[in-house]
Amino acid sequence: VILTGAGISAESGLATFRSADGLWNNHRVEDVATIEAFAHNPDYVHDFYNQMRPELFAAKPNPAHLAITKLQKNYTSPINIITQNVDTLHEKAGNQNVWHIHGQINQIVCLNCGHIFETWGDISDEDECPQCNIAGMLKPNIVFFGENLLYMDKVDKLLQKCDLFISVGTSGIVYPAAGFVQIAKFSGADTIELNMEQTSNNYFFDRHIVGPAGTTLPQLIDEILISE
Ligand code: OAD
Repeated sequence: VILTGAGISAESGLATFRSADGLWNNHRVEDVATIEAFAHNPDYVHDFYNQMRPELFAAKPNPAHLAITKLQKNYTSPINIITQNVDTLHEKAGNQNVWHIHGQINQIVCLNCGHIFETWGDISDEDECPQCNIAGMLKPNIVFFGENLLYMDKVDKLLQKCDLFISVGTSGIVYPAAGFVQIAKFSGADTIELNMEQTSNNYFFDRHIVGPAGTTLPQLIDEILISE
C-alpha cells in the first residue's frame, strides 16, 4: 500500500496544505473545507473549488507518480494507492487501484440522491442534479471536516493485509490517515516514510527517507524491484 499526501504533488507545482501562514490557497480552512461553511455559504465554497479546478486540470504528474506506474507494472503483488489528494495526478500517470479517501476535485455529488458525476467545469448553487433534477444540492465530492472519509472499509482491509506500507509526502497530522501506518505496522507490514522532513509519526516507521519525492520514490522503487 502506498499512502500519498500533498507532498507527492508539490513537484508538479501544487501547493501543500500546511503552509507557514496556516492558510490553504489564501483561505482559512474553516471557510472553505467544513460542512458548516458549505451549508452557510455554498456559493463562496463553490467559487473556491471552481477556481482550483483549472489549475489541477492543467497539472502534470511528476517522476514520483510515474515511478508508481512502473512499480505496478513490474511488481508481482497488487499495489494499492490510498491518496489524501483531490488532484488526479495518480490517474494521469497511469496508476491503478487509486482510492481517493478525501474525494476528488473533478467529481460532484448530489446531496439529494447521491448521484456522483465528473466535471472540470464550474458549479453553482443554482445548478440541478443531472439525475434527480433538484437544484441547490450539488456539492464538490471532496470530504470536508465534519464528514466521513470515503472507501474506509476497503482501506481497512488493505491495511490489514499489506506487507509493505509506504507513506509519501504527508504531514501525518490529519486522522484517520495519520494512523494508517500504525494499523499496517501492527498487521506485520514493513513501513517506510518518504518526506522532505522527519515527521512526528517516527515510532511506527521502520525507515525514513528524507528528500523530494520526485527523486526518493523512483530510487526506492528501483531498489524494491531489484530486490524482489
Ligand atoms: P500537508 O500540507 O499537511 O503535508 C505535506 C507534507 O509533504 C509535509 O510533511 C511536507 O514536508 C511534505 N513535502 C512537501 N514537499 C515534498 C516533496 N517534494 N517530497 C516529499 N514530501 C514533501 O498535506 P497532507 O498531509 O496531504 O484534507 O494533508 C492531509 C490533509 O489535510 C489534506 O488531504 C487535506 C488537509 O486538510 C482535505 O482536504 C480533506
